[in-house]
Amino acid sequence: MCQYSAREGHVTDWHFVHLGKFAQGGAGIVFVEATAVEARGRITHGDTGIWDDAHIPGLARIADFVRSQGAAPAIQLAHAGRKASMARPWYGNAPLTDADVARGDKPWEIVAPTSEPLGEGWLRPRPIGERDEEMLLDAYRAAVRRAVAAGFEVLEIHAAHGYLLHSFLSPISNHGTREERMRFPLRVVRTVRAAWPAERPLFVRVSSIDDIEGGWTIEDTVALAKELKASGVDVVDCSSGGIQGSATAAAKFMLPRVPGFQLPFAERVRKEAGMKTMAVGLILTPEQAEEALAAGRADLVAIAREALYDPNWPLHAAQALGADPQMERWPVQYGWWLTRRESLLRKLGFRR
Ligand SMILES: Cc1cc2nc3c(=O)[nH]c(=O)nc-3n(C[C@H](O)[C@H](O)[C@H](O)COP(=O)(O)O)c2cc1C
Repeated sequence: MCQYSAREGHVTDWHFVHLGKFAQGGAGIVFVEATAVEARGRITHGDTGIWDDAHIPGLARIADFVRSQGAAPAIQLAHAGRKASMARPWYGNAPLTDADVARGDKPWEIVAPTSEPLGEGWLRPRPIGERDEEMLLDAYRAAVRRAVAAGFEVLEIHAAHGYLLHSFLSPISNHGTREERMRFPLRVVRTVRAAWPAERPLFVRVSSIDDIEGGWTIEDTVALAKELKASGVDVVDCSSGGIQGSATAAAKFMLPRVPGFQLPFAERVRKEAGMKTMAVGLILTPEQAEEALAAGRADLVAIAREALYDPNWPLHAAQALGADPQMERWPVQYGWWLTRRESLLRKLGFRR
């Protein structure tokens, strides 16, 4: 989850503590937020980056700590495309204004498959040509090399939420047949796969549907997932939306926001493309997550905002599902005390 708190792409102590909490909290995989493969691919001035070797040590410190807690360190490689050069959410989540410039956040040139801006009042992107494509592939290749150097064990390519690769895929922001629109994103995926160690998992996050009339559909996602599988991708991470507004914080959505609202996409891609999937979106309770996994609707579940609410969500889930009655999964620094307190709480009638 983007924290919009980096400096010139460098992670700060905020990111170390923020991500460290989830590792301490029992997560199996901890993903570093959408991290830009080139400076102009940042959503905001506060995005994390991996376009320079100087970014490696800060990321390595996070990866090392996450691993020390028994979790797999992961990073999401991103390019914001025509959603780049925005204000941080708390300053408007919209195009940069004079107030942002006064804070030192100036707009920059943005690139996309189209010269159409995201909407009225948004920056007009410069259309990407063949030379840009080659430069972008080089940027992804170098980013993968840096992710390896930093010690990440899982890599995710961000191809969702209206950012660069999604904007290639969607008929809302690109033209041509589905095959033509998939061409560049698939080149990126193959370039990344070739640079990323063969034994380490590669995920791709997609917007399973645009949720807009005439947009990308779940049938398109199934077709893409088959290509991703043939390109050596291990998991498709099934999100949705974002080609026009925010994927998570837009004012209104056609697809009703109910618990597990994107789970049907993970299920469909899993069954129809024979691809491992990760489900995300309003997965709130351990029972809900367990049911999705046990029923074979997804192979993994991703917890975002609920983990902000409770960074110990996985440990609490293990307890609730009876998988960790003795609190052995907790970091020993906490677990040793909490196990003893549990016996007391049982005696006092606070626990069954
Ligand atoms: C603060 C915040 C930052 C986010 N940053 C990212 C990101 O970097 N990459 C991404 O793919 N999704 C990002 N998302 C979307 C989440 O990964 C997730 O798909 C969405 O919040 C729905 O899941 P949830 O109901 O568990 O929060 C972000 C969401 C939030 C709330």
